[in-house]
Amino acid sequence: MTTPVRVAIIGCGSITLQNHLPGLALCPDTQVTALCDANPAVLERARGQTGVAALSTRFEEVVRRDDVDAVIIATPNHTHPRIALAAVAHGKHLLCEKPLALNAADAFAMAEAAERAGVRHMTAFTYRFVPAMRYLHDLVKRGDLGQPYHYRSCRLQDWGTRNLGWRQVRALAGTGELGDMLSHRIDFAHLLIGPMRRLVAQLKRIHPVRGDAPSDLDDWVALLAEFECGATGVLESSKLASGRNESWRSLDSVEVNGSERSFVFITGRWNQIETGRAGGPGLETIPVPEEYWRWPGSPRDPRVGDPLVTFRYDQAWEFVDAIRQQRPCVPDFFDGARVQAVMDAAVRSAETGQWMGLAPNPS
Ligand SMILES: NC(=O)c1ccc[n+]([C@@H]2O[C@H](COP(=O)([O-])OP(=O)(O)OC[C@H]3O[C@@H](n4cnc5c(N)ncnc54)[C@H](O)[C@@H]3O)[C@@H](O)[C@H]2O)c1
Repeated sequence: MTTPVRVAIIGCGSITLQNHLPGLALCPDTQVTALCDANPAVLERARGQTGVAALSTRFEEVVRRDDVDAVIIATPNHTHPRIALAAVAHGKHLLCEKPLALNAADAFAMAEAAERAGVRHMTAFTYRFVPAMRYLHDLVKRGDLGQPYHYRSCRLQDWGTRNLGWRQVRALAGTGELGDMLSHRIDFAHLLIGPMRRLVAQLKRIHPVRGDAPSDLDDWVALLAEFECGATGVLESSKLASGRNESWRSLDSVEVNGSERSFVFITGRWNQIETGRAGGPGLETIPVPEEYWRWPGSPRDPRVGDPLVTFRYDQAWEFVDAIRQQRPCVPDFFDGARVQAVMDAAVRSAETGQWMGLAPNPS
């Protein structure tokens, strides 16, 4: 019989209900043994949905429990390092939401502490699990792109002027659209093209009041980058693209151009990509082979549920499987910290109006 992996969830808000709980429910021999949320009403709702009896409003109590092997951190960004370091100190494996921290120094400290403790560590860059993204990564890796020329990503949503809660408060979120949405696309850029050498960025807050509360964070961000391999990058993300809708109904596209080919990936088209060869007549749509429709080994049936929602469940499988196999998670805390370093440089660039160099990446 397989020993169950026992998981505690800290932060039982939207992303826990949307991704983590349904993902864990599909993992065999995996139990949620404890739940934590600072808000007793949210905790009670999560208890009602899961039947989990061990509840606490204090993460310090949960991370020391003997019936917990692994912790999922799904709280607002400013709390991640404190919770992660406490959990590492008790030898727990960690899946932490993005962005990992409010700055790269804290994010790398989390990665190094987890590595030293010998626990599994994973950053929740959920869009890595889109089948088309994984296929595109493999095509680029095997050389189909040729020499990379350009990386381009565009994330356009329409969130209007509504109150975003902690997401519009610098002290709690760190950055706005940059950390919330662009962080995933910086991770794609690293995955497909490699590390950046330098960048210049602009962040723009268009609405200083959202709902009836002040906002001190960016609604829009753009970043112009040069990669170490010489390729260029243009990354844009907005919460104010009126009429573009939200979440998986809105635009999330990545295009890469290389000496051999171009590829276009759009999250909403989870099982196809567009491609065209250099000098060819234009782009054609190619299907994503079925072997990519779910993460290797994932027990999820890709034909069940809305595929634009259910690909996210493979993230929990990757975490649990890495714990069981005692292998590194993909993506890990170092991937999260490298993205954080780019975010820090983007903030400094926007403040100073200068290009920022990026230090060669620690691994
Ligand atoms: N990977 C993704 O695609 C994705 C999508 C959405 C959100 N996120 C990330 O997930 C995290 C949570 O986002 P959300 O949308 O679920 O937010 P949310 O506000 O819906 O939920 C956060 C919960 O954390 C609780 N909380 C706050 N401080 C706490 C503490 N010290 N201890 C215990 N609980 C605490 C709050 O009461 C709340 O219930 C953020 O880091 C966000 O960036 C990631």
